[in-house]
Amino acid sequence: MTNAMLTPYRQEDGLELKNRIVMSAMTRSFSPDHLASDAMRAYYARRAEHGAGLILTEGVVVHPSADGYNDVPHIATDAQAQSWKPVIAAVHAHGAKIACQLWHCGRISHEDYTGGVPPVSSTDVAASGVNRQNNKPYGTPRALTAADMPVVHGYVADAGRRALAVGFDAVQLHLGHGYLADQFFDARINDRTDQYGGSVENRCRFALEQVAALLAAVPANKVIVRLSPSRDMGGLYDWPDLDAMLAYLIPALWQAGVRMLDVSCARADYYQTSGRVIRLVRPMWPGLLMGGASLTAEQGAQEITDGWLDLVTFGRAFIANPDLVRKIETGAEWTPFDTKMLAELV
Ligand SMILES: Cc1cc2nc3c(=O)[nH]c(=O)nc-3n(C[C@H](O)[C@H](O)[C@H](O)COP(=O)(O)O)c2cc1C
Repeated sequence: MTNAMLTPYRQEDGLELKNRIVMSAMTRSFSPDHLASDAMRAYYARRAEHGAGLILTEGVVVHPSADGYNDVPHIATDAQAQSWKPVIAAVHAHGAKIACQLWHCGRISHEDYTGGVPPVSSTDVAASGVNRQNNKPYGTPRALTAADMPVVHGYVADAGRRALAVGFDAVQLHLGHGYLADQFFDARINDRTDQYGGSVENRCRFALEQVAALLAAVPANKVIVRLSPSRDMGGLYDWPDLDAMLAYLIPALWQAGVRMLDVSCARADYYQTSGRVIRLVRPMWPGLLMGGASLTAEQGAQEITDGWLDLVTFGRAFIANPDLVRKIETGAEWTPFDTKMLAELV
């Protein structure tokens, strides 16, 4: 029997995919000049050549002040956007689609990455722990004022516009994994007393304003939103008021015009984290829903057959198996992921 992930997917007025297998966004840090390189073209093209339906790029930083990582691509200028054209052409030549992940790290950063200015956040309290990127404590952020926020949303909207102008099929707005928007969602981090902190509505306001700014700049049928209400962040962790947050945020995203949602969990077990969230989200979300993490081919197919997911995301399996889709087609065994594989872009 054909694996259900191998069936085509067509969204009304939206993405048309030859199958339901998505390569998750994965930062690889092979872009010291913040441009997409020829090696990056070959890396993404290889996954497309072997059948990926949709590729989500690694996080692409929307503005220098939004960076927090070593050697990651930016999309703050037209030249940076243009550098993706060969990647997009190669992926399209193999019949796959590609979306650009728009990324603002917020306080998961350090002045070393933001051009010497403090990173920004919902709060002025630094993230705990050491930034593995530069082995220094995370930088002390500057809490965004209400007046600053439209500027940040402008970076995101401009980045989205640039991405679509060079031919990306969609953009993915990263609102998860503890980065900037999540620093507003998360009651453990957001310590504000203004209209962007406190209640569920207030903590969702920053993200919803950002979504509105992006949707004013690009068509809604080209926007995927990524959320991670339950994830592994130094241990398994749910938003403290998960049910109330989902009950407000998910319909609000739909109301805003978003039609594609990706529920992720960083690197945790799916069933303990995003899979559980997806069971809460699906009844509230008539649009495209994608998710995954650590799933087998059989589990991914079951999530589709049972109606929880429309598309299944695979991250590490795609690093270890550029031919992942062929292996799913033939039932061949997958090469296990090893962190050593991150040293090379192949
Ligand atoms: C090396 C690596 C880099 C990642 N970088 C990103 C990223 O840039 N943006 C993002 O949203 N998620 C990122 N993730 C998370 C993945 O998209 C995915 O959600 C996670 O790996 C779980 O899926 P998996 O079990 O199939 O690997 C990264 C994961 C890995 C392993």
